[in-house]
Amino acid sequence: MTWRIPLFDLDYGPEEENAVLDVLRSRWLTMGEVTQRFEQAFAESCGVKHAVAVANGTVALHLACLGIGIEPGDEVIVPALTFVATAACVRYVGATPIFADVTSEKDLTLSPESVESLITPRTRAIILMHYGGYACDMPAFRALANKYHLKLIEDAAHAPGAALDGSRAGSWGQVAAFSFFSNKNLATGEGGMLTTDDDEIAAYLRRLRSHGMTTLTWDRHRGHAWSYDVTDLGYNYRPSEMLSALGLVQLAKLDANNQRRRELTAAYHELLAELAPQVGVPFADHPGAPACHIMPVLLPEGSHRPDFMDAMKTRGIQTSIHYPPIPEFTAYRATAGGLDGLPVTRAVSSREVTLPLYSRMTQDDVREVVQSISEILRVR
Ligand SMILES: Cc1ncc(COP(=O)(O)O)c(C=O)c1O
Repeated sequence: MTWRIPLFDLDYGPEEENAVLDVLRSRWLTMGEVTQRFEQAFAESCGVKHAVAVANGTVALHLACLGIGIEPGDEVIVPALTFVATAACVRYVGATPIFADVTSEKDLTLSPESVESLITPRTRAIILMHYGGYACDMPAFRALANKYHLKLIEDAAHAPGAALDGSRAGSWGQVAAFSFFSNKNLATGEGGMLTTDDDEIAAYLRRLRSHGMTTLTWDRHRGHAWSYDVTDLGYNYRPSEMLSALGLVQLAKLDANNQRRRELTAAYHELLAELAPQVGVPFADHPGAPACHIMPVLLPEGSHRPDFMDAMKTRGIQTSIHYPPIPEFTAYRATAGGLDGLPVTRAVSSREVTLPLYSRMTQDDVREVVQSISEILRVR
């Protein structure tokens, strides 16, 4: 299907094509010098000591759990309203994800109060997902982490470049995981990154990403080593040089593209204010400079979401939902107990619709989307 206004579109051009061609012509395809440059540039952009590139955001989350020592029997508190990988990574290491509510209809990030009510002697960590590129309440979560001696992992898949109180997403937890999946603000198709200020964790993550080996094929190619030891049960979670080359170009565009996303989001908010209170607009007032990854709205109570999305589709406008809550999935329902005790997640997850947002979108596109919403819902 060709959309007149798609949910997302890449900002790709000759720069990306040339970067990949340069790698192909260099005849070195697996993790090497380009990946090192991408890691350095990414660490600098987040203001952290270390960045470790990996194959995707899901394995970044897996390594984040291993990196801070989550073990079987531990509990890790995660939002119910997030992509399934935020919880799956906890299960990969034999621990139990405990699902907390989000804050309110105006703020779909994790609720510190809900998290605190779920802390037990087995709780080891909290995974903070910066929903939509909007920062979680970091002062509140830092206070909770100090009070209960918990570790903080950031799931920053939506938030590359997001800032709060002068620092950036990726620098707020012990370790953070990013995704460069095709629809992300920094897109390389597949791809991910871990960030941390901790030297030991960084070294451990680097070993785990490549079979637990003490040297890399790249080191051996450069004549720096001819053998290796295996010190940990590791994985092959490495990125390719093509991916890292795309990442470097996309990173250079990130701040300008995030600024454009903020402008488009502001335009949405201004126009959607005329459809209030029937249409709810989360994050109309959120601290810091968000990455504005997605544009969520809440349909009026009692609307039929599939009909609404179909009507938008008929006009060539693509919409989506973020997210079907994890505790309702078949693979989670039995152990997670559904949405009991998560009233905000229950209320918003059936009404949320995600509108198109991407840096190349125009203000006219935004006007057309909002006009279509008002006509379909007959509000205003
Ligand atoms: C919040 C969140 N966490 C984790 C992931 C997993 O990232 P990936 O698709 O790169 O494995 C995604 C994205 O797809 C995501 O949106």
